[in-house]
Amino acid sequence: MSPYDLLFSTVLRRMDAERAHALGFGLIRAGARAPGLRALVRARYAPARPELRVRALGLDLPGPFGLAAGFDKNAVGVAGLAALGFDFVEIGTVTARPQPGNPRPRLFRLTRDRALVNRMGFNNDGSAAVAARLAGRPRGPVVGVNIGKTKAVPESEAVADYVTSTERLAPHADYLVVNVSSPNTPGLRDLQAADRLRPLLTAVREAADRAVPGRRVPLLVKIAPDLADEDVDAVADLALDLRLDGVIATNTTIARDGLATDPGTVEAAGAGGLSGAPVKERALAVLRRLYARVGDRVTLIGVGGVETADDVWERLLAGATLVQGYTGFVYAGPGWVRAIHRGLAERLAASPYATLAEVVGAGARTGREAA
Ligand code: FNR
Repeated sequence: MSPYDLLFSTVLRRMDAERAHALGFGLIRAGARAPGLRALVRARYAPARPELRVRALGLDLPGPFGLAAGFDKNAVGVAGLAALGFDFVEIGTVTARPQPGNPRPRLFRLTRDRALVNRMGFNNDGSAAVAARLAGRPRGPVVGVNIGKTKAVPESEAVADYVTSTERLAPHADYLVVNVSSPNTPGLRDLQAADRLRPLLTAVREAADRAVPGRRVPLLVKIAPDLADEDVDAVADLALDLRLDGVIATNTTIARDGLATDPGTVEAAGAGGLSGAPVKERALAVLRRLYARVGDRVTLIGVGGVETADDVWERLLAGATLVQGYTGFVYAGPGWVRAIHRGLAERLAASPYATLAEVVGAGARTGREAA
């Protein structure tokens, strides 16, 4: 049993999940504040692996594996997260106005399923405060900025809300994500319909270009695993049509099928998005479907139920250039990314491919699901 497994089973698991998150994240942030300690953490958890370097979205990254949105909603811990090995960090979701999110408790563990249920509801400091924080940060890891709609803003004003956040945040974003797939803001996922998504993404693209005249900030959209296949295809076609830079597949699911956790515990958790191992299969299927449609013309980021290096490899083969995870980090602890990097390096060395770039989509091209 690793020290983290011991801590998890004796302390963290007995705490309210959100308090455990605050404790763990507090330690990560504290460790990063002292430069000497941060260097030690980095040396232990993030040794350089030049063979894993990738280029995506016009950016150079030390590897393909990033932290998914929702862990660091306010961009307060990017340096510490990078010291633990994440190749990039997606902050947010950030909304135009600050908001408290839903009442607690709003985060639950389904430990037997290595899963979480959350209905956080975009608790965040708002895009003005987060922009100020990002503006003051020293040079560091690649930071994606994920934006969503303020809950109190009516759906008819959703576009203006996203545009406000874009104007504030695009100058500080290595890439920008329009999140239309959280289940915890009423009506948000309806924005995934092509006739709603087109004007939204067009307005955000224009706002980003206005706000950052000298640089084309890569723009991505993040979608739900609960979309029907035709809707996934419609997003893919829209991405091509609008020349979007990328699609992130997927967010959490509202489905509760096939869980090992007893139904009473699942019901007690209540409404929200399910993440972790149970979302893996559908997230992979959505990724494959997208890749079949867009190929290399749109950068795909695979997320949902990724726990191991094999899972990352499988997403790369399926067409993802980058991969993210969140729930796996909660269950595996600080050594998670190091183990993934090590496993990826081993797989690459044993494969017929010279670089990770060659792996991307190779499963789709050969019909193989693993190499
Ligand atoms: C999330 N996720 C998320 N996604 C997003 O776009 N904006 C957000 O604010 C959040 N917030 C959030 C909070 C919590 C507690 C969890 C567990 C997840 C979704 C996350 O980024 C990811 O898409 C899914 O969790 C699926 O990946 P994993 O967790 O199975 O690796």
